[in-house]
Amino acid sequence: MKKLVIYYSVSGNTQKEAQHIAEQNNADIVEVKEKKRRSKINLYLIGCPQAMGHRKTEIEPLSVDLNDYDEIVIGAPIWAGFPAPAFNSTVEQLPPGKKVSLFFTMGGKASTKCEAVTQQAVANRGCTINGYQHIQC
Ligand SMILES: Cc1cc2nc3c(=O)[nH]c(=O)nc-3n(C[C@H](O)[C@H](O)[C@H](O)COP(=O)(O)O)c2cc1C
Repeated sequence: MKKLVIYYSVSGNTQKEAQHIAEQNNADIVEVKEKKRRSKINLYLIGCPQAMGHRKTEIEPLSVDLNDYDEIVIGAPIWAGFPAPAFNSTVEQLPPGKKVSLFFTMGGKASTKCEAVTQQAVANRGCTINGYQHIQC
């Protein structure tokens, strides 16, 4: 079983958790980067509405081939109740048939709506959910 942890992080919380999960599972790890760096104002004024609308964003090409992995763990921060847009862009690249685990870092409490929306997005790619976690940072 080849495992990959793929994550997006702005201020380092998700990165730290991703590194921990990768170490624990002897998994490869790769960071998702947006093509355009966000200013702090952009995070709130543009990023939050994008997250709430489950919108995607332009990301740099991935440095790994997702087809090479049996299980993929995706991590992202929660913005305004939903994952940062880079999460949606990452899910869009999932090949069908993968086992997928999700984890999200956030300052507050988990929402069931976020869980339903993100699990559905993974299912829409023809992948199965293998785990789901909110991590309060
Ligand atoms: C634009 C923005 C919106 C956020 N919205 C929420 C939120 O709705 N609920 C919450 O619990 N935390 C929220 N947070 C806190 C982040 O989810 C939390 O700090 C996360 O761990 C950041 O991950 P990172 O360090 O990997 O970027 C928000 C942070 C930012 C920057």
